Amino acid sequence: MDGRDLVRSVKAVGSWGAVRGLRTVRAAWRRRRADAAGLPRRGAERARVPGALQEVRPEPGGGVVRFARSELRITVAVNGAVFWGWDGAGPQPSYALAGHGPEPDRRVVLEPDKDGGWRVVAKRVTVAVSRQGAIEVRTPGGVTLRRDLPPRWWEPVGGGAARWMQRSEVAPDARFFGLGGRSAGPRLTEGSYRLWNTDPGRPFVPGDDPLYLTMPVQLVVADAGTHLVFHDTPWDGTVTLREGEEGAGSGHDRAGSCELRMDGGPLRCWVMVGTPARVLRVWASLTGAPALPPAWALGHHHARWGFDSEAEVRRIVAGYRERGLPLDAVHLDIDHYDGHRVFTVDRDRFPNLPVLAEELRRDGIRLVSIVDPAVKAEPGDPVYDSGAAEDAFVRDASGRVVQGVVWPGESVYPDFTHARVRRWWGGHYEERLAQGFAGFWHDMNEPVSFTAFGENTLPRSARHALEGHGGDHREAHNVYALCMARAAYESLRVLAPQERPFLFSRSGWAGMQRYGGTWSGDVATGWPGLRASLSLVMGLGLCGVPYSGPDVGGFDGSPSPELYLRWFQLGSYLPLFRTHASLRAGRREPWEFGDEVLAHAREALMRRRRLLPYFVTLSYVARRTGAPYVRPLWWDTPGDRTLRDCGDAFLLGEGLLVAPVLEPGATRRTVPLPRGRWYDTVTEEVFQGPGRVVVDAPLSRIPVLARAGVVLPVQGADGGLELEAWAPAPGRSGGGVVARDAGDGWAEPEVERYVSRWEDHGVVVRWDGDEDRGEPAHPVRVRGLGQR
Ligand code: GLC
Repeated sequence: MDGRDLVRSVKAVGSWGAVRGLRTVRAAWRRRRADAAGLPRRGAERARVPGALQEVRPEPGGGVVRFARSELRITVAVNGAVFWGWDGAGPQPSYALAGHGPEPDRRVVLEPDKDGGWRVVAKRVTVAVSRQGAIEVRTPGGVTLRRDLPPRWWEPVGGGAARWMQRSEVAPDARFFGLGGRSAGPRLTEGSYRLWNTDPGRPFVPGDDPLYLTMPVQLVVADAGTHLVFHDTPWDGTVTLREGEEGAGSGHDRAGSCELRMDGGPLRCWVMVGTPARVLRVWASLTGAPALPPAWALGHHHARWGFDSEAEVRRIVAGYRERGLPLDAVHLDIDHYDGHRVFTVDRDRFPNLPVLAEELRRDGIRLVSIVDPAVKAEPGDPVYDSGAAEDAFVRDASGRVVQGVVWPGESVYPDFTHARVRRWWGGHYEERLAQGFAGFWHDMNEPVSFTAFGENTLPRSARHALEGHGGDHREAHNVYALCMARAAYESLRVLAPQERPFLFSRSGWAGMQRYGGTWSGDVATGWPGLRASLSLVMGLGLCGVPYSGPDVGGFDGSPSPELYLRWFQLGSYLPLFRTHASLRAGRREPWEFGDEVLAHAREALMRRRRLLPYFVTLSYVARRTGAPYVRPLWWDTPGDRTLRDCGDAFLLGEGLLVAPVLEPGATRRTVPLPRGRWYDTVTEEVFQGPGRVVVDAPLSRIPVLARAGVVLPVQGADGGLELEAWAPAPGRSGGGVVARDAGDGWAEPEVERYVSRWEDHGVVVRWDGDEDRGEPAHPVRVRGLGQR
């Protein structure tokens, strides 16, 4: 042990008072001892490659290809997704897939390819297998999107989990995205990215990697097409990416490459090809439709670590009300717990939460509760006692319950990979509902144990049920939070069947969107942090998790008024719009930064409120199609290479382009425009894409452009729905979808579709497909008319 390590770790986790140094040292020792005793030593290993192709057997959807030293199963599913697995691996069991997974597509043909290889031919994709076990994914036109070289395994001679490595090549022009929440994204350039959910222990800045939420999901965009590849293995691993380069006539092209190294688990993957929209649709059909947040969760949330009494909550809420600032949710952090113990309330400081919740609800404000997984290891604590009686807590290889250190002190960890434990845990949300909470914020669920040095999580040797097949933390770690979300979601569906659960979680894995969203974790206050927080939202959306947003203002320290405002303005266009900060950070209320900031923050809040029907529509679109609300500029035109490289602006749904200000002092900024006509939504100035344009970005607002022709549902001054139609370019038409909020329950929304076009007397908006139906159901306001 080194004294400096100790100081560093205690600084990282909080104050000396919050976590005593000695405990964190003890936790580290315990972890090491458990791993030394409980994990097999890495002895001699035997390397293996598939060897030569020997035999092929057709099966529905594809077939099985036998090699000298392995076997490969390829299946194309009815939704167009391709599965392949080595060494007998099938799609199940899987933590990522929703339900049983799709049926095989029986129209698929298995036939000989050139040079003694074989290929599986489906409508949208061809998968060719070489004699040595290389796999190529080709478009129907025969262009290669991805080429996987024969994999390699290293197997411990004495038995145990095999490590493996898979190298792949992609087109020289291809760009990589995804891998979960990455601070250096959204475009992932050259570098290594670890697949191990990690609390970095201090607020993160761009380049810090890995963070809380990783997943082996890559979205690769190239001229020839877009594909998503998912390696369905939750084990620890590393992805090393290298973008390719085109020779530009004077030299050879260099392919892009990806090397995936995994510490264990089956070598199996899913590949989806097509446009970005199609790829995300198939991904959502595979891993589950994104949960639909209730409409209030699309408004403004105010959180803070440090609301230490009901009076303080009331003071904040009154502050919003008195200044005419819309507020939809207040989040209570660990402060409201009794001794930081989960599922408790400090009755001295929060004597009557149900009454507070009811009061707030009457004003349209919901209370959201933090929920940490670790349970204080203290006999007498009801959660601990009932968990112990259920045998709910993670044990080490010798059978002892694993102890770590989190906010309440010495703690134990539920094993969410066991259905019985999930039910037991989920039952506790009844207590939360009785306190009046309407939503849940899962935190510290990588899971975290503060240790004096090294990795701050459970020992790798800790045992988990893993749905009955049994295994250790190396396999369970990355799905821990996913299983916690499942526990909460499934239980809430029973406890409050009339309402859609609202939850978001710091950590998670592929498929977590079925249960809820996420946020960016503890982002460092500063301009680089602002940029990183947008990367996370965009990257996660491309991994199928559409609902997320940052801590507006950053987690630590005190943002300058300008930084706070720019963050607030960006946040107001992201799905989860939440101000939040650490205990020791400066204030984050919009009125704490002077009158000018307050006025502009009010504008941002008002615009968000006006756009609420659009956000509601986007949430339905995400659920139906998997398309994220926040989309990269290349979403509709992935062949536009300039757009592929742009990470500082985004499309909000189909209709809007948001160009946040991410630099101090800027009052104008350059925006690369997708093709078509665009209007500045405030000045109505017209811009023509494709190309780069410079737009005004005064302190009062960030540039938001509307696509010509779009029909946006907005909230009018009287609170009713209005259609804001942006004039199509002359001779063109446009349209839009409106999904009307059907309340917080399970009722399906009414979906309306409109078209817009020029007629003799100007722009008209009509029902799509039913022109005789008369006027649209809502007042229409046409904008952009001055600019023919
Ligand atoms: C973690 C969370 C943060 C929360 C704090 C206290 O740092 O990321 O959002 O405020 O714990 O609960």
